[in-house]
Amino acid sequence: MTMLTPIADSPAGALPFSLAAIPGLPDETALARLAGELFRALPGSEAPSSPSAPGVSGLAIGEPGPALQPVAAPSVGQAPVAAGPVAPEFGVPEAYAAALPMTAPISAPAGVPGSPYYFLGEATALSSAHQAPTPVADNHVVAHPFELPGEVALRRVLDEIAGERSLPAAAPLPAPGHSGYYFLDQPASVPRADAARFPAFDVQAVRRDFPILAERVNGKPLVWFDNAATTQKPQAVIDRLVQFYQHENSNIHRAAHELAARSTDAYEAARSKVARFLGASSAEEIIFVRGATEAINLVAKTWGKQNIGEGDEIVVSLLEHHANIVPWQQLAKENGAHIRVIPVDDKGQILLQEYQRLLNDRTKLVAVSQVSNALGTVTPVKEIVELAHRAGARVLVDGAQSVSHMRVNVQAIDADFFVFSGHKVFAPTGIGVVYGKRDILEDMPPWQGGGNMIADVTFERTLYQGVPARFEAGTGNIADAVGLGAAIDYVERIGIENISRYEHDLLAYATQRVQPIPGIRLIGTADDKASVLSFVLAGYRPEEVGAALNEEGIAVRAGHHCAQPILRRFGVEATVRPSLAFYNTCAEVDLLVSVLQRLARGKGRAVG
Ligand code: ALA
Repeated sequence: MTMLTPIADSPAGALPFSLAAIPGLPDETALARLAGELFRALPGSEAPSSPSAPGVSGLAIGEPGPALQPVAAPSVGQAPVAAGPVAPEFGVPEAYAAALPMTAPISAPAGVPGSPYYFLGEATALSSAHQAPTPVADNHVVAHPFELPGEVALRRVLDEIAGERSLPAAAPLPAPGHSGYYFLDQPASVPRADAARFPAFDVQAVRRDFPILAERVNGKPLVWFDNAATTQKPQAVIDRLVQFYQHENSNIHRAAHELAARSTDAYEAARSKVARFLGASSAEEIIFVRGATEAINLVAKTWGKQNIGEGDEIVVSLLEHHANIVPWQQLAKENGAHIRVIPVDDKGQILLQEYQRLLNDRTKLVAVSQVSNALGTVTPVKEIVELAHRAGARVLVDGAQSVSHMRVNVQAIDADFFVFSGHKVFAPTGIGVVYGKRDILEDMPPWQGGGNMIADVTFERTLYQGVPARFEAGTGNIADAVGLGAAIDYVERIGIENISRYEHDLLAYATQRVQPIPGIRLIGTADDKASVLSFVLAGYRPEEVGAALNEEGIAVRAGHHCAQPILRRFGVEATVRPSLAFYNTCAEVDLLVSVLQRLARGKGRAVG
């Protein structure tokens, strides 16, 4: 557990911490080289590819440098992650990260311009000489549990921690509207190994990887809080698409020429990256489709049609978005099957006991999201799968809202199917994935017929390809599959655990700031949440709040989020839904809060 220490406002548009600016330190190139040499000397370490390359600037990814090698991700075929606590992985090898100056417990020396990001060790307020009135650069994040009923509870928790550790009481919380910076503050006694678990996460460097974040909307800097609808694309993904169309474009699997080889290699490499990213046992278990919606439809119209019949039951949760309801309804109508719905509690958490009661020998499939798009609830998919398997049912896990926020391992979950959309994990639109256990895919009939999926065709009969080609009829979205591979590379370079931790703290911060605003009602307050902060504001329709936020350049979704049943469970037809990604900052949350506070102060509004 870390402590929150607010410090004074920090410089506007602060650039990354410049090591060169610290008197007596060698320049960054020399430090990078030294760190590289140290890293190479560590047992079992792989040398950075370009030890002499200049610049070690935290976990910025757009321009690969020596600190930015992809984390050693689990290889395809690796055994499932064991249950229980899992050692974290980071975007840079831990030992190497520990060797980097930015991760050392340092204090900002007087006179240092710019803004350091995480200072591990003693938190140090920058001197007021370096303050600027309107900070926009930050990654001050808080680390505390969800569902704190506001600042009083947060204060109490922090004081308790301080007491347990015999530390000074927690520093005062920021005043409402305060836009200062926070540093994860760990006591000086934290062992070095612990510090190494928290390599620097340079949110400003990450932001520079996403060109659209420099966009202005209504004359204001864009604040992209609509990540559950779609995520923005890093330059690395944009560049990869350009490279594909400039140097590799060809149809795949069909010709003997050079460009066919290049594009086929790029496409199949992307498949392998997806397999590794999901912890699949082989690339053949990965089918490329348009997105999660098409993925679910594929399963419903192939496996579903083959395996679900009259009187059979399909279990979904009340949290599901329409894409994980409608295809099953269509199938049930066609085959005479029935839909059963797992209820949720008042926080939006799945009621496991109720779920257990729904399972029986007619249950053929359980289809459930790993993270709810409307509420942000993280569901206990491992338990859900285990219980379904005990009842003899198969399970489809919808990862549309999970893969960009947390480590997924399909073998550890033991999902039979897992689906996600590329565009929600920083890849282009129009590309998505069905993971299926190989033996299940091999028994499934094809879905669409056409080229690429056949082995031999006569007018009397067709012989199909094996998996996965059997499910990829016609010319697929080759370039965007390659773009998905680049997005996965990008995420893995940062480290999904880094992303997860940063976003967790950012969501906790946002929750703590938004919840106390008069008239706010949070919709979905699960103990385990990711990314989403859904709410209604008394006196305003959600779309009015969305429009007011848009005036300030803030993009949120306001509506039913394609998940009407779960919103109706809470008595609403629509909510305002800011949804966070790892390029968002607390300063952006503060801006959101200031608009909501202004709206909340508005008098004489009638509920629309
Ligand atoms: N399913 C997407 C959302 O949640 C479109 O906004």
